[in-house]
Amino acid sequence: MEPRSALESILRRAYSGELTAALAYHGHWRSLRDAQEIADISQIEAEEWHHRFRLGVMLRELDARPDPILEVRMALLGTIICLGCLMVGWFIPMYFAGRLESQNDREYEEAAALAEGLGLGALRDELKAFAQLERDHEAYFLGKVAGHPALPYWKRWFGWGPGA
Ligand SMILES: [Fe+2]
Ligand SMILES: [Fe+2]
Repeated sequence: MEPRSALESILRRAYSGELTAALAYHGHWRSLRDAQEIADISQIEAEEWHHRFRLGVMLRELDARPDPILEVRMALLGTIICLGCLMVGWFIPMYFAGRLESQNDREYEEAAALAEGLGLGALRDELKAFAQLERDHEAYFLGKVAGHPALPYWKRWFGWGPGA
């Protein structure tokens, strides 16, 4: 794929992916009792909404549009996760949030490299900052699940966790 189309398609996926993430985090913090965790994860939700807003601007500046079918699918997925978080207890949402974040940063690094190749320096810098924030999110969840008795089991099956 030509670099510009490759960049547009990552931004399009990320735009809809951030919708899933924001909806999922909304359900996540609503499922919690601890005031600090509620504050932390509503902050993360706000950051994902901000990413989505900025990705929308980036797409417009590239003369690209979000993918309407992907939007519907990712909204549906986000809603399912949002509701699911209310039912599965503390550990599973913390674990899968961290695992998901570990993939997000790679996507933004890839987009940043494409932007760099296209000579879009400001876009590269912003995408790099997005990747860093996703790494911070991952680090937060790593800290949360570390030492939890269920961790070794999930880590064996899903390959993500402290020290993986
Ligand atoms: Fe994000
Ligand atoms: Fe994130």
